[in-house]
Amino acid sequence: MRMTLLGAPGAGKGTQASFITQTFGIPQISTGEMLRAAVKAGTPLGLKAKAIMDAGQLVSDDLMIELVAKRIAEPDCAKGFLLDGFPRTEVQAQALITHGIQLDCVIEINVPDDDIVERMSGRLWHPSSGRVYHRTFNPPKQAGLDDITGEPLVQRADDNEVTVRERLKVYHQQTKPLAAFYQAMAEQPGHPIAFYTIDGTADIDHIRQQILALLQKEA
Ligand code: AP5
Ligand code: MG
Repeated sequence: MRMTLLGAPGAGKGTQASFITQTFGIPQISTGEMLRAAVKAGTPLGLKAKAIMDAGQLVSDDLMIELVAKRIAEPDCAKGFLLDGFPRTEVQAQALITHGIQLDCVIEINVPDDDIVERMSGRLWHPSSGRVYHRTFNPPKQAGLDDITGEPLVQRADDNEVTVRERLKVYHQQTKPLAAFYQAMAEQPGHPIAFYTIDGTADIDHIRQQILALLQKEA
């Protein structure tokens, strides 16, 4: 299974990705987590990406395509992978095609902008694993601590309201059109890709069940 999750910032891509990767035994390729790790490590990519991410803008297509193409070439991706946060522009989507990377399934998680702003203010993040929680909707077992390691949870640098609104603007301009792009592809007779849109406002477990049903149909 080679798939990607599309959706606005905070739509629940990371939340659902961790369940999909556990259920199907495929690696999660989260470009946002890869960039945050690069920022933390102070690599040349991280140094370039930090200001862009803090401003809610997109890192350049060239850098992102190189990062993802290298990651997908690693042996653990041979049997499939789950992309989370890529592609985010039509140039990135075309690059998958020109690199011969054929996706089987694209799932878009749809959430209105106003719900997103509320969600982001309550998100808690575990920096070393990328696990996400929410103060109200998905609280950790112990307030402020990661369930697995017991380490402190923090707020992501780009989760303030000003940056979230900028990320939403960028999403509508550059990423939302990919839903139509993949839908048109899926409607081509004989094309192997499947495209689904699901309502991301339901509770986390309900969405999980819906995704599971769709993926079992595909597997
Ligand atoms: P990235 O890390 O990908 O951020 P994003 O797309 O903005 O998405 P998020 O991680 O914020 O949200 P999510 O959909 O994963 O939601 P989550 O599950 O955490 O990218 C960050 C930055 O890196 C970008 O802005 C850009 O600068 C750069 N970048 C990354 N990829 C790039 C690319 N390909 N090209 C160029 N630049 C790139 O859930 C959010 C919250 O809601 C959590 O608190 C969660 O608990 C809660 N929640 C989840 N589901 C539900 C639900 N159903 N009901 C209630 N609450 C829920
Ligand atoms: Mg995420």
